[in-house]
Amino acid sequence: MIRICFVCLGNICRSPMAEFIMKDLVKKEGLEKEFLIESRATSDDEIGNDMHPGTKSMLDKYNIPYERHYATRLLKSDYDKYDYFIGMDDYNILSMKRLFGTDKKVYKLLDFTKDDKEIDDPWYTHNFTITYDDVDKGCRALLEYIKCKDK
Ligand code: 4NP
Repeated sequence: MIRICFVCLGNICRSPMAEFIMKDLVKKEGLEKEFLIESRATSDDEIGNDMHPGTKSMLDKYNIPYERHYATRLLKSDYDKYDYFIGMDDYNILSMKRLFGTDKKVYKLLDFTKDDKEIDDPWYTHNFTITYDDVDKGCRALLEYIKCKDK
């Protein structure tokens, strides 16, 4: 079992988008039984809230299935529950390193692509299209990385 936790600030825009895109990619490859895929927040701001409507509209546009989401805070005790903690931006990475006291298992999503970039936060940019394209690219690259690693 490969256990992935996507992480962003609020857990209503970027990390649940990554969660449902990755679940869909894995399912399309018939690998869903081999993966546990979830997402968490580094802040308390949106705890319990569903995904942002802008995130849902992008998932709808690409026919990516999703369920009612409840934003959930990342805890220090989560460290042993996952193999990969995938942050969206440099601040998420810093927050996780502080929380866990290590950067082992901690990665930035677009580090799996050729771009040294962050995933823009659409909470601030209002541009869910750019965020979706980058998250999709990152998730595809992450899946390829994991598949090559486990061969
Ligand atoms: P996310 O976006 O980290 O991609 O979920 C945000 C959502 C909410 C807030 C900030 C970022 N907020 O400040 O409430």
